[in-house]
Amino acid sequence: MEENKSFLTQEIDLKSPNRNIVPITTSIGNDGKLYIGGCSIEELIKKYDSPLYILDEITLRKSCRAYKEALEKYYPGKSLPIYASKANSSLFMSNLVSSEGLGLDAVSEGELLTALKGGVPNEKIVFHGNNKSDKEIEFAVRNNIQVILDNDYDLERLEKISNTFNRNLEIMIRFTPGIECHTHEYIRTGSFDSKFGFGIDYLNTLFDRIKNAKNLSLRGLHAHIGSQIFELDPHKDLGEIMVNVILNAKKFGHDIKKLNLGGGLGIKYTENDDPPSIDEWVKTISTSVVKACKKYNLDLPTLMCEPGRSIVSTAGITIYTIGAFKEIPGIRTYLSVDGGMSDNPRPITYQSNYSACLVSNPLNINSKNTYTIAGKHCESGDVLFKEIELADCKSGDLICVFGTGAYNISMSSNYNRIPRPAAVLVCNGESEIIQKRESPLDLLNYDVLPNRFIKQN
Ligand code: LLP
Repeated sequence: MEENKSFLTQEIDLKSPNRNIVPITTSIGNDGKLYIGGCSIEELIKKYDSPLYILDEITLRKSCRAYKEALEKYYPGKSLPIYASKANSSLFMSNLVSSEGLGLDAVSEGELLTALKGGVPNEKIVFHGNNKSDKEIEFAVRNNIQVILDNDYDLERLEKISNTFNRNLEIMIRFTPGIECHTHEYIRTGSFDSKFGFGIDYLNTLFDRIKNAKNLSLRGLHAHIGSQIFELDPHKDLGEIMVNVILNAKKFGHDIKKLNLGGGLGIKYTENDDPPSIDEWVKTISTSVVKACKKYNLDLPTLMCEPGRSIVSTAGITIYTIGAFKEIPGIRTYLSVDGGMSDNPRPITYQSNYSACLVSNPLNINSKNTYTIAGKHCESGDVLFKEIELADCKSGDLICVFGTGAYNISMSSNYNRIPRPAAVLVCNGESEIIQKRESPLDLLNYDVLPNRFIKQN
């Protein structure tokens, strides 16, 4: 039997899960089939049905710890890693990151509420957003959650609310540092032309305005330059730029005590990806801040960072069941699965690439077919893999897509009224539901037929 080299045979980096394609507990059972977290994927599908999102607890905890440990090593005693919950927001994720001592970043009342209900202490939550509603701002302030101001509109409202409550509020501001990095343009945020944050040229005016606000104290700076970044230099530059801004703010009497350098560390979706480790990334941001502070003789601020994808993406997989095949001779063979762009909108949105294997033949033994894996939505672009090599497979077989923990369930939709899959947590051979499967009937819950359209008998 011929055995092709598969990404599943690669050595696993146990320290930095973002450098692996698969969760670190991935194994092939005695039955030759795929296991994650000690659970047979085939058994999980029998129990929970398909499609299914699965999260591996050990990989998740490893990622959280990698950030904590690296920060302790390179920036001892003065740091707080914050999980960017937009990557995957749930009661479970809030609870897990908080049990590992991480804080959480939220951008809406929904994410804030999920964090609080999931047990994240309010002093470890930060509230972002380029268009926060009055209600959201009030919710954050009432719950003593740190608000990160993004624009003048935020400033006006924070000033007003601090005066109404007659309370001094410590604020942070987000600015655009003018850093370009190589990632998809939709997820690049640090350049001058960005909807997020105050322009760097405006900061002196802003510092002056905040100085005159009776009940506001500027205590922190934030910047986030983009996502799925493999270079380290942009973050090195960011550390230096931010320390320069601390100096500038000092001239206006502001005592900046916190620097938040955002997230952005990339993960390995395919064999072509080679992201730095969490340790290297943290070392880069830490040493650049320490160096610049030394140079200007500044006390070290508390260092915060906001990883999302590199915490949760590699811990997550999605399982689909193969349905219809359509062979177009000389062109391609479509293989359709029972999900697609509604549970993973990243391929159609960003042309993202993933890795996948058959659950019953993970190593692709005797692989010889090239397929196009299509979703089930009414859209030609609903394609999860343009070309993938898989061993012989048939309707009813299961496919596992790796690296789907981030920006999948959180960006999912009900396009074509397709219910969202369930999400299950696996650990040491046990599994538990963390998000229930939606049913078609659930999707009617928010529909209302106006009275005059209801036929009277
Ligand atoms: N902090 C802020 C302010 C952010 O806007 C983001 C991501 C993060 C932290 C976390 O970045 P990460 O460590 O995950 O790269 N939907 C896109 C990604 C959008 C990222 C938005 N902001 C995707 O699926 O690739």
